Amino acid sequence: MVADPAGAPNFLNRTLWIDDNLKVLSGINSECVDLVYLDPPFNSKRIYHAPLGSKAAGASFADTWTLDGVKTDWADVQEAADPAVYHTVVGAGLSAGESMQAYLTFMAPRLLELHRVLKPTGSLYLHCDPTASHYLKQLLDCVFGRTNFRNEIIWAYTGPGNTPRDFKRKHDTILRYVKSRDFTFNLDAVRVRHKRTYPSGGMISLAAGGRTRDEIHARETDLISRGKAPEDWWTDIGAGSHMSKIERTGWPTQKPLALLDRIIGASSNQGDVVLDPFCGCGTACIAAEKLGRQWLGIDIDTKAAEVTMDRLARECGDNTYTIGEHGPRQGKLALADGDNRVFVNQNPPVRTDPDRPTRSPRIRTIRWHELGTGARRPCPGCDRPKYFDDFDLDQIQPRAKGGLDTDDNLQLLCSSCNRIKGQRLTMTELRQRLQTEYLREGINA
Ligand SMILES: C[S@@+](CC[C@H](N)C(=O)[O-])C[C@H]1O[C@@H](n2cnc3c(N)ncnc32)[C@H](O)[C@@H]1O
Repeated sequence: MVADPAGAPNFLNRTLWIDDNLKVLSGINSECVDLVYLDPPFNSKRIYHAPLGSKAAGASFADTWTLDGVKTDWADVQEAADPAVYHTVVGAGLSAGESMQAYLTFMAPRLLELHRVLKPTGSLYLHCDPTASHYLKQLLDCVFGRTNFRNEIIWAYTGPGNTPRDFKRKHDTILRYVKSRDFTFNLDAVRVRHKRTYPSGGMISLAAGGRTRDEIHARETDLISRGKAPEDWWTDIGAGSHMSKIERTGWPTQKPLALLDRIIGASSNQGDVVLDPFCGCGTACIAAEKLGRQWLGIDIDTKAAEVTMDRLARECGDNTYTIGEHGPRQGKLALADGDNRVFVNQNPPVRTDPDRPTRSPRIRTIRWHELGTGARRPCPGCDRPKYFDDFDLDQIQPRAKGGLDTDDNLQLLCSSCNRIKGQRLTMTELRQRLQTEYLREGINA
């Protein structure tokens, strides 16, 4: 297949994927997304259900984590051969226990993929809470580089709750990272009102030298009307529970549109691509649509597409949105003006960019499952039971004999068999070699 130019998108605007986001992300071309907002489960050790009778009734997601449950994701972290990520995940396991390690194991490969799909001018906002924010920040430092950290935003709210031995926990944390120094940031799009009547607090008159009272007043008025840059603590958005009736869907942990308006307004331009890989009831998608951005959403729950379509119809003006036909290879991103199709896609995209891997990054995991069930699996070379980590990825027909680096020519072979087979032996030759060695060593093969 001929590759598309670097940075060319392989999806259409308004695509919603209903699938595990890791599968979808690994199929998205590199560097074609301007802004990522993600609001993953927070490791709260709870199972969330939408209330019966709400628009999202039937939607649910579990926020409980075990190492067994993330075995396949773990393989990806190892495959990424990223020692900083690996040690951060394992270190969190030592200080906070297995559930935190499992949670970060789930997050790490997704953050690596999100970093890859961002344009050099792009930004990522990770929404979390104090349960895991300090570990996630460390993980993001590894993935984005510490100097690309820009803000720890505190979204503060009030609400009921009784914590007799603590201060009430009433804030979420949003970690903002950029891909490079050349990032998009539109301060003027997100200015907020000054609280004081005189924003300069009288400093203008001191610094202004010979300005008249009228000039100072005009300057003060100008400053007031322009508004000020928001601080990194946001108290003016209100809690999720304060959302209007039209906005509220009942989706567990739904976020307010006002929060997404600020993030999208600040870190993207008209026509840019916004991606939410844990989109739930589509809050980021709806905000992006209203602000004239293109968008992609991913959620594992089929209900996400239904609720997002319903929100588009109710909250996005007079447009009539229809479900469009889709294919795994979408080609271009933009839709013509007035084309209001939404693409609900169950097939992950297929990468078409020049740096797409020639082998699937998940192939080791897939092959592992093919070997059979049980904690240890027999090696196809020596037939001895081995653990997952004892296996290497091997070309069945060796490269020296014309074997290709394609999925159907790859298998898992235990490290010692792989060493013997090397680049030259076929499987038949390997087994003959092993027989000879067993006979020599007096082992019953
Ligand atoms: C905290 S909620 C997001 C809420 C969203 N921000 C909103 O305003 O509606 C997390 C979402 O992640 C989804 N999710 C969990 N694991 C996922 C996975 N592996 N791939 C895609 N979505 C996933 C859940 O179904 C849930 O909708």
